[in-house]
Amino acid sequence: MTRTQLNWMLLIVLVALACLTLAMERDSSKPNFEIMPDMAHSVPYDSFAPNPNFYDGKTLQPPIPGTIARGEQPLYYNATPEDAIRAGEELHNPCSATDEAALARGAKVFAVYCAPCHGGAGRGDGLVAQRGFPPPPSFHADRALTMKDGQMFHVVTYGFGNMPSYAVQVSREDRWKAILHIRDLQRKEAAAAQNQAAAPAVPAEPVAPAASAEPAAPPVPSAPAVPAAPATGTIEIPAPVQPAPVEPNVTAPGVSQ
Ligand code: HEC
Repeated sequence: MTRTQLNWMLLIVLVALACLTLAMERDSSKPNFEIMPDMAHSVPYDSFAPNPNFYDGKTLQPPIPGTIARGEQPLYYNATPEDAIRAGEELHNPCSATDEAALARGAKVFAVYCAPCHGGAGRGDGLVAQRGFPPPPSFHADRALTMKDGQMFHVVTYGFGNMPSYAVQVSREDRWKAILHIRDLQRKEAAAAQNQAAAPAVPAEPVAPAASAEPAAPPVPSAPAVPAAPATGTIEIPAPVQPAPVEPNVTAPGVSQ
């Protein structure tokens, strides 16, 4: 074959291919030729494909009423105030108040999921409440103090009034631990209140010795008398002590606990 013949041959092939390409008229709305179609098109029904085998004609079927997800314990309550009270009677916190790990976890859960509204100390003054969300009542009010753990659990699980349900965000175990933390907050607040109530009685005696320790500073008005006898006459000058130093002494013993 000469070179000219070869060129002619190639030209004919080129023209033939060009014609063939034009003749095939590609339709972009249809899939191309599939070499192994069963790899792309599975035999089973697609999740959202119509399905004549079921009464409702859908492939994805909802769980049968009463189905319990694996690992879940059912709760037989409705989101009603009556059931909240019933939950208070029937459910008990499985975590012990002396379980340090549970308390630590509860504090963490509370800080993340509850404190934004309820506030770090549970006074209902969280940031979200400060910025316009209806503020929750304080956990140190009578209602929360007398509310049973089970009812709190119902509130957190099903929601209550303006309080949304936290069942999705907070696992059941963590909900109980958060409640453990609320009880801990209540205990600490009560202890602090008791200390404060007891505080005024305490400073009555210690005023004199505390002040006499540094007699030069407080009694400004009677200054001339004091500097003369710092070392010897401490016991004889209790009179000017009373007015000024009472306050610092009151706060110190009261707040420290
Ligand atoms: C979006 C803000 C918000 C968050 C977050 C929130 N709460 Fe509340 N919570 C409220 C409000 C508001 C109320 C008061 C509901 C009402 O009375 O309408 C409330 C009420 C409660 C009560 C009942 C108190 C009572 O005295 O009636 C409990 C218990 C409670 N919340 C626990 C929790 C726990 C535990 C968390 C965290 C898992 C949490 N809340 C997270 C807003 C919130």
